Amino acid sequence: MVSIAIDGPSGAGKSTLSRALAKKLGLLYVDTGAMYRAVGLAALRAGAPTKNADAVESLLPHTEVSLRHLGGAQQVFLNGEDVSKTIRAEEVSMAASDVSAHPAVRAFLLDTQRRLAKENDVIMDGRDIGTVVLPKAELKIFLTATAEDRAQRRYEELLAKGMQADYQKVLEDVKQRDYNDSHRAAAPLKKAEDAVELVTTGNSFEQSLEQLYALILQRLPQLGQGGKDG
Ligand code: DC
Repeated sequence: MVSIAIDGPSGAGKSTLSRALAKKLGLLYVDTGAMYRAVGLAALRAGAPTKNADAVESLLPHTEVSLRHLGGAQQVFLNGEDVSKTIRAEEVSMAASDVSAHPAVRAFLLDTQRRLAKENDVIMDGRDIGTVVLPKAELKIFLTATAEDRAQRRYEELLAKGMQADYQKVLEDVKQRDYNDSHRAAAPLKKAEDAVELVTTGNSFEQSLEQLYALILQRLPQLGQGGKDG
C-alpha cells in the first residue's frame, strides 16, 4: 500500500488539495482533522470543558468516530450520526484544537487512522501524519502559508458558505490554533525531517495542485498509471 502524508497548519489548503489529488491519483483521502473535530463536537455537546483532559477522556468510552467514503467524499459519523457539516463550525474548530492536545484522544484515533492506511492507498492529511501516524509514508509533504493568507482563505470560505465572519477574528483564531497545535506536548505540529516543504502563499489553488501533482509523480511514478486525470 502507498501512503502520502500531508501535514501543516490549518488553512494552508491541505484538505482541498489532498481531496483533489486523491481523485486524480485514485487514492483514498483521509481527513484526520475531521476526526478530532468529531471528538470536539462530542465534548461541546456533553458540556465538557474541552481543555480538561480528564473530562474529555471520560467521554471517550461513549464516543464512536467513524469515516465513510462515498464516491471520493469523506463523511464523518459521531455515534452513528453524520456530522460532516456540523463539525465545520468555528466553535468546533477551537474545541477540536483543545481536545487534540490530550494524549488519550490522540491514542483513541490513532488505530483507526493506521488501519485505513494499512487497508488502502491513502493520502492522509493532519498535523502529525508524517511524524507519528505514518512515519514510514512513502512521501511526506509539509504544506504551509502565512497566517494572513490562511485567514483570508478561511474568511472567504465562510462567506461563500453564507456564514457570518469577521476577518480579524478569523486571523486571531488561526494564530491561536497555530500556537496550540505547535506547542502542545503530544504530537505537536512539526515538519518531519524527511518531509518536502511547500509554501502556498500567493499561489492559486491550481498552481499548488500542479506543484504537488508533479512532486508526487516524480517521487511515486507508479501512481501515474492508476489514477484518473481531471
Ligand atoms: O485540519 P483541521 O483544522 O480540521 O483540524 C482540526 C484540529 O485538529 C486542529 O486544530 C488540530 C487537530 N489535529 C491534530 O491535532 N492532528 C491531526 N492529525 C489533525 C488535526
